[in-house]
Amino acid sequence: MYMALIELKDVSKLYGFGDATSVALEEVNLAIEQGECVAVMGPSGSGKSTLMNIIGLLDRPTHGDYYLSGKHVSRLGANQRARTRRDRIGFIFQSFNLLPRLTALENVALPLLYKGRSPAKRTRKAWDMLERVGLGDRVFYYPRQLSGGQTQSVAIARALVNDPQLIIADEPTGSLDSNSSRLVMELLSEIHKTGNTVVFVTHNPELTRYATRVVYMQDGAIKYDEQTKLGEVGRYARQVMYAVPETTEEDDLAGVSAIMPVLDKRGVAADKKTKLPRRKSTSHKKRKVLKK
Ligand SMILES: Nc1ncnc2c1ncn2[C@@H]1O[C@H](COP(=O)(O)OP(=O)(O)O)[C@@H](O)[C@H]1O
Ligand SMILES: [Mg+2]
Repeated sequence: MYMALIELKDVSKLYGFGDATSVALEEVNLAIEQGECVAVMGPSGSGKSTLMNIIGLLDRPTHGDYYLSGKHVSRLGANQRARTRRDRIGFIFQSFNLLPRLTALENVALPLLYKGRSPAKRTRKAWDMLERVGLGDRVFYYPRQLSGGQTQSVAIARALVNDPQLIIADEPTGSLDSNSSRLVMELLSEIHKTGNTVVFVTHNPELTRYATRVVYMQDGAIKYDEQTKLGEVGRYARQVMYAVPETTEEDDLAGVSAIMPVLDKRGVAADKKTKLPRRKSTSHKKRKVLKK
């Protein structure tokens, strides 16, 4: 029987009990195929991280089922989840999560240590990965000696060192300036192009250019889900970037309410300024027309 790489069926996640119960995810259904690059957007508290943690087997749903490559993984015990994570999933977080007392090379080699690889193999593989992310000349640097973008590149090398099939990145560019964000997204994009499945959370509509699909969350549910072309901004993301400041129509506003709070916090102008390679030479003006 055919199965998607990731299949969530009526997945809910509740925190707390009784009157204090909060619903982080509410009966989410989502299938992601091998080879997709999915951007997850939505306001703070909408359940994006909860979704990432469940997909990445860091957390278990309260209700519902999760199938990874057809295997029912939502009821696995902690040890089996840890093993599946180690062998199949790479994580990248906003806060990098590198160990400060280890060099870049040691940080990247760490997952291989847990896997029982020999020191020579660990070093060779970790060094290769650091070269792949452009840090071949920084292998003996400590995290504090690296820039934000370089630190996140080390974290990406570490996430890739076990050749995971699936990369989960929760706001990987959230602490980075626009140049470093671009570098990090280019790396993720390369990983995607070599056949890996990538799921990343972002607040920046521009970064949906790297995605083949954009999922918008609100109040623990998937509000919109659209296929997009590589190089193009998602339709709803585009409305946020280009349409909202020009219109006061309630219909339009209702349509983008899923990501509106993000705008309030970060501002449209900041996002607009982000320079990214335009794979398609669509001008700003033309895109304005396209949305209609
Ligand atoms: N460990 C937790 N305990 C209690 N509530 C939590 C916990 N983690 C998340 N939540 C709640 O679940 C909801 C979704 O959170 P989260 O998935 O972190 O959203 P996002 O990543 O979109 O900002 C929020 O209302 C949050 O307060
Ligand atoms: Mg989050």
